[in-house]
Amino acid sequence: MYNEISIDRVKKIVSDSFENLGIEGISVFLHSERVAEYSKALTAECVKKYKELVDKIDPERVYLSGILHDIGKKVFPIELLNGKSKLNDEDIEKIKTHPLEGYNLLKKAEEKYNIKLWQDICDAVLFHHENYDGTGYPEGKKNGEIPLIARILRVADFYDASFTRIKTNGGIKQNEENCPCVKTKEYCIEQLKERKGTFFDPNIADIFIEIIKKPVEIISEKINENNLIYKTNSF
Ligand SMILES: [Fe+2]
Ligand SMILES: [Fe+2]
Repeated sequence: MYNEISIDRVKKIVSDSFENLGIEGISVFLHSERVAEYSKALTAECVKKYKELVDKIDPERVYLSGILHDIGKKVFPIELLNGKSKLNDEDIEKIKTHPLEGYNLLKKAEEKYNIKLWQDICDAVLFHHENYDGTGYPEGKKNGEIPLIARILRVADFYDASFTRIKTNGGIKQNEENCPCVKTKEYCIEQLKERKGTFFDPNIADIFIEIIKKPVEIISEKINENNLIYKTNSF
């Protein structure tokens, strides 16, 4: 018999374990929290638009998938996460193993704590870097072969990586001129549009673009609070 585990409990375990890695770990956790918020909001809109999804997808489970999606990065040395040094091909290939590392960590946690995590969440973690056209990883799945939660995470994750990640200098926000990693919302929306049908499920990307065009507060105050963070590598 398995024990039930609450979303809050999982979130606390993930947050503590990333905090132990220092500022780079905290950055990954804050990114995960924002991806979770974006994904939950996106799921709610998808369900409103496609009523047949009501019984198929739960926004709370999508939220938890967002919290866990990059958990596999915990196994890497800090230098791979902090975005300070230029990565070589070998480093990039290593980082690309994080979905599988994450899936394996979740399966080990189930055994260790005698809990049963939902399989759809484990699969979302494993497939969150699959592209709609089959060019993603780890398996090169495409279109509807990619689980719905993973298709939702793909859009939210890309957006957060390209928009919210703002490099700071001692906590002072830098402007676009001296920090090229700062992007405008319009620029990021264009990036999303360009990748519809290649990276992203076009229907999901369209719904997300409508959400994100509105003031960001409708999604979460937290997204604003966490705006100032250190840049991390985003593979
Ligand atoms: Fe990832
Ligand atoms: Fe991510």
